[in-house]
Amino acid sequence: MTSRTARFYDHLDADIKAILLTQIRNLWTHHSTSLEGNSLTLGETDFILQEGLTIQGKPLKDHNEVYGHAKAIERIYGLLNTAKTIDKKDLFQLHETALTERIMDIDQPVGPWKVQSNYTTYVDENNKQVWREYPAPRHIDALMTQWLERLNGYFTPTLDRQAAAEAYADLHLSFVTIHPFFDGNGRLARLLANLPVLDAGLPPIVVPQEDRYRYKRCLSDYQNTVDDLSDLSDLSQLPDNQQKQQFVNLCQSYWAQTIELLDQANAMQQKRHPS
Ligand SMILES: Nc1ncnc2c1ncn2[C@@H]1O[C@H](COP(=O)(O)OP(=O)(O)O)[C@@H](O)[C@H]1O
Ligand SMILES: [Mg+2]
Repeated sequence: MTSRTARFYDHLDADIKAILLTQIRNLWTHHSTSLEGNSLTLGETDFILQEGLTIQGKPLKDHNEVYGHAKAIERIYGLLNTAKTIDKKDLFQLHETALTERIMDIDQPVGPWKVQSNYTTYVDENNKQVWREYPAPRHIDALMTQWLERLNGYFTPTLDRQAAAEAYADLHLSFVTIHPFFDGNGRLARLLANLPVLDAGLPPIVVPQEDRYRYKRCLSDYQNTVDDLSDLSDLSQLPDNQQKQQFVNLCQSYWAQTIELLDQANAMQQKRHPS
């Protein structure tokens, strides 16, 4: 499925590459788990993953989440190295890897799609709190089949930086708007939407946890432009509009953190091999 373009780290010496990939794993894991309530800092996340030790007084759940996310990143790189089309089974496996809290509850499946409706709430323009229901469970399989087709369609050798940001934003926005799982939708969207980005030879886009208000507001503003999300049964019903463009712009700005890490690694490489 992948286009076999060089990866963003391919030109680096093995030791420099290893450090860069560790830094990116820490950053991606910290920000994505923090966005959904994990209390561990970037430093603690790095310590846990590097040393295999725990942080006194911090929840076991938070430690497990960090491990789950780091393993899920390895799966993402692994998917890039397979020649096959990404399918439903890959998504279920990724969900099982990232969601380390196994509750034996048939209404909250880890692996398969959600079986119960899920909701969120937002404050509208009249300062009123309103319910929003995500697409109904009966529509999920068809919607995600279309979403996977879209994902696989983005693996082309011609994806430049602008097109990669657009692909990331499109996949991320549609995934979290479908909300196919009972939990873990944000983390999985932030992992999976990076597949075409990495395949295009670019470092991943990482949503900074400090920007959570703007990030979530942007998702909500976009979803406000769809009449009844619970009834969504076809991806083509999701509009390409100004709100979506705003999300594209936001995602582009979120590249700064990993680009900075890549620049630092390039500087180390340059110092070792002055040309
Ligand atoms: N309107 C919205 N407001 C806030 N977050 C939203 C909205 N729509 C989708 N999301 C996404 O839902 C995620 C939270 O869903 P959840 O299934 O709990 O995922 P996770 O457990 O990975 O955080 C957020 O991180 C965000 O990506
Ligand atoms: Mg959650």
